[in-house]
Amino acid sequence: MKSVLDYIDANRDRFVDELVEWVRIPSVSSEPARAPDVRANADHLAAHLRGLGAGRIEVWPTAGHPAVFAEWLRAPGKPTLLVYGHHDVQPVDPLGEWITPPFEPAVREGRLWGRGVVDDKGQVYVHAKAVEAFVRTAGAPPINLKLLVEGEEEVGSVNLDALMREHTADLAADFVCVSDTAMFGRGIPSLCVGLRGLAYVEVFVDGPAFDLHSGSFGGGVANPVNALAKMIASLHDADGRVTVTGFYDDVRPLTATERAEIASLPFDEKAWLASTGAPATVGEKGYSTLERIWARPTLDCCGIGGGFQGEGAKTIIPARVSAKVSCRLVPDQDPDDVMRKLGEHLRRIAPPGVRVRVETLHGARPYLAPTDHPVYEVAKRAFSKAFGKPTVFMREGGSIPFVRTIADATGKPCLLMGFGQPDENAHAPNEWLDLSNYHLGIKSAAHLYDEIAHMGESGGKSG
Ligand code: BES
Ligand code: ZN
Repeated sequence: MKSVLDYIDANRDRFVDELVEWVRIPSVSSEPARAPDVRANADHLAAHLRGLGAGRIEVWPTAGHPAVFAEWLRAPGKPTLLVYGHHDVQPVDPLGEWITPPFEPAVREGRLWGRGVVDDKGQVYVHAKAVEAFVRTAGAPPINLKLLVEGEEEVGSVNLDALMREHTADLAADFVCVSDTAMFGRGIPSLCVGLRGLAYVEVFVDGPAFDLHSGSFGGGVANPVNALAKMIASLHDADGRVTVTGFYDDVRPLTATERAEIASLPFDEKAWLASTGAPATVGEKGYSTLERIWARPTLDCCGIGGGFQGEGAKTIIPARVSAKVSCRLVPDQDPDDVMRKLGEHLRRIAPPGVRVRVETLHGARPYLAPTDHPVYEVAKRAFSKAFGKPTVFMREGGSIPFVRTIADATGKPCLLMGFGQPDENAHAPNEWLDLSNYHLGIKSAAHLYDEIAHMGESGGKSG
């Protein structure tokens, strides 16, 4: 391993420069006009991996944006690890709030700033550079390694199931590693052992056929904006619980052990709150903040629009309004079931005088890792070797559709080894990547491959 780690040290700055080149490509998957950029982004990654001079590298088309697949199968008899990441990024608005432009990555304060630096391009390059270190010093990684880099994660991975069905054999592996999460805190190596799922719908409320004069008609017909506001306000009770009928039916209660594990983490709630800028924490009664964001289901209106939004005053009864409503799910909730219940509930609570239509957007299933599997000890050891500190187990409130899909399809454990920071501004203006995490992340990935190569040997690998 010494030559591999030395190589990573010696090339530290170049690894940053190469990531900068990739981050320049605006691979925003949600914007149709950016589709050619997402494609160019996939091609850039594929060309970069081909430049390593070994392995099979392909760009896989989908009905949407392409994925990149790579494999290095040069370790007969050794386990196969499938690594997953995504190459698409979130939109950049509000653009005016960026200190430096999102696609002109800049280094300041030991951080790289730009859209996608941590979510998820930097984390994909962590693995690409770890592979490079092995290819250049030893000819190939010490295990059989596959890399799948999706182009539609930020838009719900809608074509992923089809892609995985098409390539079942290519994706076969003994273990899976996903690097698309954050660490618990500065310098604390953290394995994420739980992700929430997602059920996302859009609700449309229609009233009159066109905007009406609110003097002539106000009071005589229903106002869709009033109606929707009332509906959304009724979706939580006074204890912060979701009122959608049947919402909690399949929620697996947190065990005393799980609660104790979460409570044992050194969570600085004040600092967490300060990082949000919000004036106070709120949430479901009877649960701590970490439990609320990691392990309890929630419902949020992510956006609402309708009626007069221009300057000044305009007196109308708007014809229509719509809102985007998303639920974060926990085991054993099912996204399709929750979307159905939410749709039925919204139609049922619609006040008289409006028409309500609910469209489903996308979903993801929640994940809980089988932490008693030996690969978790192996991953802890690898992570700790690079960062020099004990590795903690944590959860995330976010969702990664691939994780549960691959876990169910293969029955194999999925390691969530992420290198972000909780305040990294993912999805927000001024996203950043801690460059020491990037460097130590590359070493962690290298240690992970090495440790997996020696799995089963007594006591694992030391030194
Ligand atoms: N990297 C995130 C997942 C994540 C979120 C990890 C929060 C750690 C904390 C991923 O790119 C993401 O944003 N996922 C989406 C998935 C959705 C579109 C299905 C999410 O969670 O909103
Ligand atoms: Zn994201």
